[in-house]
Amino acid sequence: MELRPLGSTGIEVSPLGLGTVKLGRNQQVKYPRAFDLPSDGQVIELLGLARELGINLLDTAPAYGSSQERLGRLLGPRREEWVIVSKVGEIFEHGRSRFDFSFDYTITTVEQSLATLHTDYLDCVLIHSDGDDLNILEQEGALDALRELKRRGLILSHGMSSKTVEGGLRVVDEMDVVMATCNLEYNAELPVLAAARERRRGVLIKKGLMSGHIEGEEGVRRSFRHVFSQPGVTSMIVGTINPIHLRDNVRLLGQVLDDKA
Ligand SMILES: NC(=O)c1ccc[n+]([C@@H]2O[C@H](COP(=O)([O-])OP(=O)(O)OC[C@H]3O[C@@H](n4cnc5c(N)ncnc54)[C@H](OP(=O)(O)O)[C@@H]3O)[C@@H](O)[C@H]2O)c1
Repeated sequence: MELRPLGSTGIEVSPLGLGTVKLGRNQQVKYPRAFDLPSDGQVIELLGLARELGINLLDTAPAYGSSQERLGRLLGPRREEWVIVSKVGEIFEHGRSRFDFSFDYTITTVEQSLATLHTDYLDCVLIHSDGDDLNILEQEGALDALRELKRRGLILSHGMSSKTVEGGLRVVDEMDVVMATCNLEYNAELPVLAAARERRRGVLIKKGLMSGHIEGEEGVRRSFRHVFSQPGVTSMIVGTINPIHLRDNVRLLGQVLDDKA
């Protein structure tokens, strides 16, 4: 897969990223079917396959159960080969989410993520919004904390996984990367993608396959065609723990991008 610039961060990412919720959490998730967490051996194979297929982008978060801990243990000496995106703000404990967007908690979370992932930098850290995007950006300390962490070189770029158009537009004004939702049934955030393109910000798409509520191979193809026809999209983060789906996704996205070229 040909790498592409993540906005003006200087970081290059594959157009398909690997979402890692399903590596670490199977409670309170919105997937169509229940599933068991993959074994360590399966995770190692999945990560190896992703690299072999040209994927260099991993999306994780403290709120994804054991995702970070497993990546830290299982990525091994190959960390440098990956662009790692993590998050701050959401805490998932005892089957429930709570949120803390304060300055101090943001700093502590990133320090913990660095330790858990056994690395001394994160390529990008996103604020994991609870839906109140503007309030978080205007009233809480997370944005200042991420700026501080970037100055200290602990993170290379910052952004927000936003949930509203107003919030996404503010992210595009102030931060390096926006993670937005776009899929065949939800297009409310397209103005954010357009603004991100104007400002040369990185755009990561979440839930592009409607969290798995798609119809077979044709559903995946149509989803990729839809997402990548939107100007401004850098990469789509697709969560899978199925190696066959991973191969299919790379093949289908390759066809869609070739058709576009
Ligand atoms: N920041 C946020 O607020 C936020 C929220 C949601 C998600 N995310 C990030 O975005 C990533 C993706 O979001 P998501 O996991 O909700 O949704 P998604 O990527 O749209 O869908 C993932 C689901 O699609 C299935 N799938 C993948 N490829 C498939 C294929 N070729 N055929 C059939 N089914 C397929 C997966 O099942 P299999 O495992 O069986 O392939 C999985 O259940 C997450 O992993 C996470 O990293 C972030």
